[in-house]
Amino acid sequence: MKSKGLMKAGLLFLVFGLIVLSGWVGQAQARGLEQDSDVPRGALLYDNWYAALGVQPPQGNMPVWERQTTNTRSGAETWRCVSCHGWDYQGKDGAYREGSDRYTGFPGVYPAVTQRTEEEIVAVLSGKVDPQHDFSPYIPEADLKALAHFLKTSLVNDNEYIDPKTFKVLGGDAANGKALYESQCARCHGADGATLRFRFEGRDATLGTLALLDPWRFLHKTRFGTPGTEMVIGYDLGWTAQQGRDVLLYVQSLPSGLEPQQSPSLGETVPSPVEQPGGPARNVFTGVLTAFGALFTGLGFALILGVFLIGVLFVIVWMIRGKKQ
Ligand code: HEC
Ligand code: HEC
Repeated sequence: MKSKGLMKAGLLFLVFGLIVLSGWVGQAQARGLEQDSDVPRGALLYDNWYAALGVQPPQGNMPVWERQTTNTRSGAETWRCVSCHGWDYQGKDGAYREGSDRYTGFPGVYPAVTQRTEEEIVAVLSGKVDPQHDFSPYIPEADLKALAHFLKTSLVNDNEYIDPKTFKVLGGDAANGKALYESQCARCHGADGATLRFRFEGRDATLGTLALLDPWRFLHKTRFGTPGTEMVIGYDLGWTAQQGRDVLLYVQSLPSGLEPQQSPSLGETVPSPVEQPGGPARNVFTGVLTAFGALFTGLGFALILGVFLIGVLFVIVWMIRGKKQ
């Protein structure tokens, strides 16, 4: 009788232990993969803040736009951060360099933002440094902070990995890109990237077209999303910067509707290399490391708990045997 009672208690204890254990590991996983929603929010605002906010853009040109004459675009577009600072965040030193169709001569935000605090960036966006660079009448405070947070923590410098002449990804893994694309993107965009068609630089584009003509826009939107859609994004999937480039490399091989030798539309000059500072640019990567860290801590804990439970089981069996003898 007594030993049966002990056995029941032991089993109960074991079941209870397993429940606690699975809960703990689950939590550790969730904690590790939990993402910071200000990052994709800020990135959407950077792309097109009036679309992200669902408001009408201001009338006329952004006042700062009038300081240049090389880029003759006008109106709503001149209010987008990306029109002046670029999809690669490097303004005149990146893809929108002199000779490109998008050249304004305006500086990039990368790597300058690495030298600023998020408060200082909010001040820049509120016209406290340059009164004409004031978005505070249009963008709510919380969103200015999200923008600053995105700029401070999540910019990726892909310079070393994209050929400045051909726009092809250098050193990527196309097979990995194909696997990622097919598991996450194909259900909406189609296996050939052509199911959803959108407008790019006045043309009808598929993902293949965009990947060849503007790899930086492709990467920004793949990593952080595009305003007005509930797209699956690399950031939420915990993709590293390299995984994003692997997908880009694969999509560059999909049908694009372009002539094989057609040269990129953004110009031919080689951009000057920009230093890659250690921390912020690798943020997506460190995010994933943190996730794995949490996971392994969880597994470590599970192992200890498992050994402990086996020990408890042994003690129970030993006690039952002792009783029988
Ligand atoms: C019409 C062009 C234009 C637009 C649109 C624009 N900027 Fe700027 N930005 C500039 C220029 C030019 C500078 C250089 C400093 C100055 O004159 O304000 C600058 C400076 C900055 C800086 C400071 C970089 C440093 O040196 O620390 C940040 C950050 C910045 N912009 C972010 C943004 C964000 C975010 C948006 C969108 C909400 C945006 N900008 C929209 C032209 C623009
Ligand atoms: C749930 C459906 C869905 C999934 C899954 C999805 N997308 Fe999208 N994606 C969209 C929609 C809708 C658009 C907006 C198309 C438009 O502008 O009309 C879009 C736009 C884009 C754009 C921007 C096009 C432009 O305007 O420059 C890129 C790049 C892109 N997707 C890449 C991806 C990649 C890479 C994946 C896989 C990680 C993915 N998408 C997964 C629905 C999806």
